[in-house]
Amino acid sequence: MQGKALPGFRDFYPEDLTLRNHLFATWRSVAGRYGFEEYDGPPLESLEMYTKKSGEEIVQQLYTFRDKGDREVALRPEMTPTLARMVAARVQALKKPIRWFSIPQLFRYERQQRGRLREHFQLNMDIIGEASPLADAELMAAAVDIMRALGLGPKDVQLRVSDRRVLKSLLMSRGVTEAQLATAFAVIDRSERVPKNVLEEMLRETGYGKPEAAAVFDVAGLRGKDALTAAGAAAEPLGEAVQALEAMGLGEFVAIDLTIVRGLAYYTGIVFELFDAQKTLRAIAGGGRYDGLLDLPALGFGMGDVVLGELLKERGVAPKASIELGAFLVAVGGEDMPTMLRLAHAMREKGIAVEYGLRHAGVRKQLELASARGAPRAVIIGPEERKAGLAVVRDLRAGTEAKVPIDKLLNGYFD
Ligand code: HAM
Repeated sequence: MQGKALPGFRDFYPEDLTLRNHLFATWRSVAGRYGFEEYDGPPLESLEMYTKKSGEEIVQQLYTFRDKGDREVALRPEMTPTLARMVAARVQALKKPIRWFSIPQLFRYERQQRGRLREHFQLNMDIIGEASPLADAELMAAAVDIMRALGLGPKDVQLRVSDRRVLKSLLMSRGVTEAQLATAFAVIDRSERVPKNVLEEMLRETGYGKPEAAAVFDVAGLRGKDALTAAGAAAEPLGEAVQALEAMGLGEFVAIDLTIVRGLAYYTGIVFELFDAQKTLRAIAGGGRYDGLLDLPALGFGMGDVVLGELLKERGVAPKASIELGAFLVAVGGEDMPTMLRLAHAMREKGIAVEYGLRHAGVRKQLELASARGAPRAVIIGPEERKAGLAVVRDLRAGTEAKVPIDKLLNGYFD
């Protein structure tokens, strides 16, 4: 066999899977602490679901084909439409607010760049059936607490928050019409990434005059509490959510930033993205309120494993080894093997991780293997100790040795 995985697809060697499992475990643990239940859906869905719900950008990136039953299908590029379908199917029976999370693998045919692949795993946390801004704060707090649980602080990551209703109110009070809003959102979304003259051209093409175009750039520049004051009543929910985060002690992580619009079509209210504080990487997470997708108020976020994994490695807080052996067992002579095997199995039954050489070799060879496997100690069974019910425990780091009763090895020695 030769060759490579497809571009944008990953092989997970054990060290890569260690990192992925660490992220999944942290996601599950924090979601659990916030009272979220886990769900899942199918990786293949009807194409129509995304053309109707996700919006242009994602639709262009779909992996799509016609199946043998002549259905137009697509690999899921995001979880939100599946979630909406699942909730809609049981909407009467489900207790509200629904607090659900999922960790789907998603597929998007993206232009490859740092932090963007063609498959990724994405934690989704969503609340359905609650209109209060405390629900928005709840999700933002969970996203921040995941960062904290992974060892990242406010100097590493920042949550940038906005509200499409605030943007709408600021833009319309400056002469932008309802019909022109979509372009304004698209321009503001790109305002930090795309040169101004390109954006001005975008506005001109959709019929913007000079003053309205200037208003779009003005609004994109508003930061912090100024943005809230300028928007008046439209900013109340955002103000309340930010206050709640401050009350939780998470204020240092939060920045009000009206350039956060989000690319997906369905957002209607507060929107947010989590970035590395230096902003050298793509977004770690993004989400917001999408009250129009279901007949219920709804909100959620997605957090990918790619950028987050890179950031953890960069900050030196990624886990290294996936298994930690308690001991490596060594049989001195061939006749010590059965005792060694019995002990190895008994230790495994007690939940202690042990290994031994899978073919008999000299003691030195076995000890070399023990060190190569990263075992902290070797448990050596020789003829004399065996008769006395003992084993020699050698600390492979300190080089010290002690004789320990086998009974004790099985009962508490490794705790
Ligand atoms: P999204 O902003 O498209 O939102 O994706 C959320 C996060 O998934 C991004 O911030 C990024 O970390 C990760 N991500 C997205 N695309 C890629 C990619 N090609 N490669 C690596 N990572 C990627 C959504 O998908 C919404 N459905 C989230 C949501 C849930 N909104 C409400 N509920």
